[in-house]
Amino acid sequence: MKITEYITALRENIGKAREQGKTVVLIPTMGYLHYGHLSMAEAARKQDEDHEEIYIVMSIFVNPLQFGPQEDFDKYPRNLGRDSSLAQEAGVDILFVPAIEEMYPERENLTQVSVSGLTNILCGLQRPGHFQGVTTVVAKLFNIVLPDVAYFGQKDYQQFVVIKQMVKDLNIPVKLIAAPTVREADGLAMSSRNSYLEAKERKQAPILYHSLLEGASLIASGEKRPEVVREKIRQKINKETSGKIEYVEILKADNLGPVDTLQGQVVIALAVHFGPTRLIDNILVEV
Ligand code: PAF
Repeated sequence: MKITEYITALRENIGKAREQGKTVVLIPTMGYLHYGHLSMAEAARKQDEDHEEIYIVMSIFVNPLQFGPQEDFDKYPRNLGRDSSLAQEAGVDILFVPAIEEMYPERENLTQVSVSGLTNILCGLQRPGHFQGVTTVVAKLFNIVLPDVAYFGQKDYQQFVVIKQMVKDLNIPVKLIAAPTVREADGLAMSSRNSYLEAKERKQAPILYHSLLEGASLIASGEKRPEVVREKIRQKINKETSGKIEYVEILKADNLGPVDTLQGQVVIALAVHFGPTRLIDNILVEV
């Protein structure tokens, strides 16, 4: 596996892979890799088994644009040594680890990409500017790598829908794949931020997923009123954890539109704070 900090070197390597007829796959991350990230490389590698030769580019960049001033940019966990061993084992071909200056040489004149509508709900409400930071860096990564395929985790469901909208609106020729959320044995969605949790919070955190599952089974038993399902989830979290709910929402899965009566495919999404740690999770439900 190669590692580079530089756009020119990255492009040279990708160019060679392309000359060999390989399909270029991009997996953008902020590092501190866990199996949720590595599963995307594994899923991409499966394409090789289908006789499609692939070239996997993984980026590791803690993107300052997507963190608010009071957020955890400085303390976001970083461990490049460990990440590069894990990426290599997972079959990544090249790891792109740019410095901030490489990505944003002219921060004061920066062109930004923003998707309207989808970004002023759910996480966008409490994190103004967050999605603009995400779409700006992802658009840059798409332009730098020109991937045929790009993977994003379903855990960040709103992020995936926002990026899908950007790709459509800007006619970016990339196939997007949402990788299923990978969970710890007790159900907690894997996240680099889980490392912030104190022991007591870590014990309670899987209840978020269990509350989503209870919501889904209430729907399966015939409940059609989203407010009843939302309330059931809220009650469980409030009763069984010390977490502070930011939101519990049920929306149309394809475009995050509002749902009056549960039907079709919906996403149940939540954000809960355990002390300074903000956790998100979601599940898709077919009604
Ligand atoms: O999901 C993430 O880790 C980040 O938001 C992403 C997509 C790598 C952009 O910085």
